[in-house]
Amino acid sequence: LSTRSPPPPSGWAKYPDPEPARQALADHHGVDPAMVLPTSGGAEGFVLLARALHPRHPVVVHPQFTEPEAALRAAGHRVDRLLLGPADGFQLNPAAVPRDADLVVVGNPTNPTGVLHPAEALKSLNRPGRVVVVDEAFMDATDGAQSLISEDMEGLLVLRSLTKTYGLAGIRAGYVVGDPDLIARLAAQQPPWSVSTPAIAAMIACCSAAAEQHRRGLAEALPGLREDLTGKLRTIGLTVIDSQAPFVLVDTSSIDPLRSIRRPLAGRGFAVRRGETFPGLGPTWIRLAVRDPATHAGLVEAISDLVASPEPQNSLPHDSQPDNSKENPR
Ligand SMILES: Cc1ncc(COP(=O)(O)O)c(C=O)c1O
Repeated sequence: LSTRSPPPPSGWAKYPDPEPARQALADHHGVDPAMVLPTSGGAEGFVLLARALHPRHPVVVHPQFTEPEAALRAAGHRVDRLLLGPADGFQLNPAAVPRDADLVVVGNPTNPTGVLHPAEALKSLNRPGRVVVVDEAFMDATDGAQSLISEDMEGLLVLRSLTKTYGLAGIRAGYVVGDPDLIARLAAQQPPWSVSTPAIAAMIACCSAAAEQHRRGLAEALPGLREDLTGKLRTIGLTVIDSQAPFVLVDTSSIDPLRSIRRPLAGRGFAVRRGETFPGLGPTWIRLAVRDPATHAGLVEAISDLVASPEPQNSLPHDSQPDNSKENPR
């Protein structure tokens, strides 16, 4: 150890004990601790369920975060997709889910569309012999009214992430809440000591009154800021999907019907998330984070500038070319 290294906080020499986190999260949601499994980020939950469950017909509702489908495929499952589209605002019609689907995975609110599906619509998917998995990684950005977490979650699993609201991606803190029988099956797949001592401390801290205040502050400020961004984008003629998340999905085909505006925007200082890696979307879709009005104004100015002085065809590469940027590809 370098003499400049700080001493390890007390408790770090021991193997982690996730029980206090499980208890704190259970109290926080008003459920039995047997319904909660702390995980190494929400993403671990997808790997655990892909290994623990043996669905014959898993269906993933897209466009959504690509990790659930990737985890299912990596575990050897053949995954079917239900593609939602812009014509109906990327809303889920429960009747469109194949009747024999015995595992259904949906995001709520959904990344990247920002659509918040009504809890009743998702509950209506629940039936004997089917597991419904709802990724609520961004639910903290809402008032929580459409969450499926409740005392009775037979056949249901909800994945939560603490990395978004609290900016803790490097800590890897998430959890699954749901049917205790399913939770036990997921737990049986979890590597020993998967959730670290700092992650456990973060989970407990995220259940505190101070964390609640932080969450409320963000959730209360978000609608106004999102409206500001959406309004500014619509003013310049862009199609913006109605969002309940801290981001919005934008159709830029009115600017260029074929190619992404991501790279020219990066050249003007704005990093945006491309759409084409999400099943069901193409290069003319981008996802924009909700920030502050000044940043929104700068972004909209950069987009308008693109329209006024488009790049020559050959200097505006297709987004299918290799991308060495360091953004999260998910
Ligand atoms: C919709 C969604 N769910 C889950 C995750 C995984 O989050 P975590 O960092 O908790 O693994 C992400 C990360 O980007 C996400 O976008």
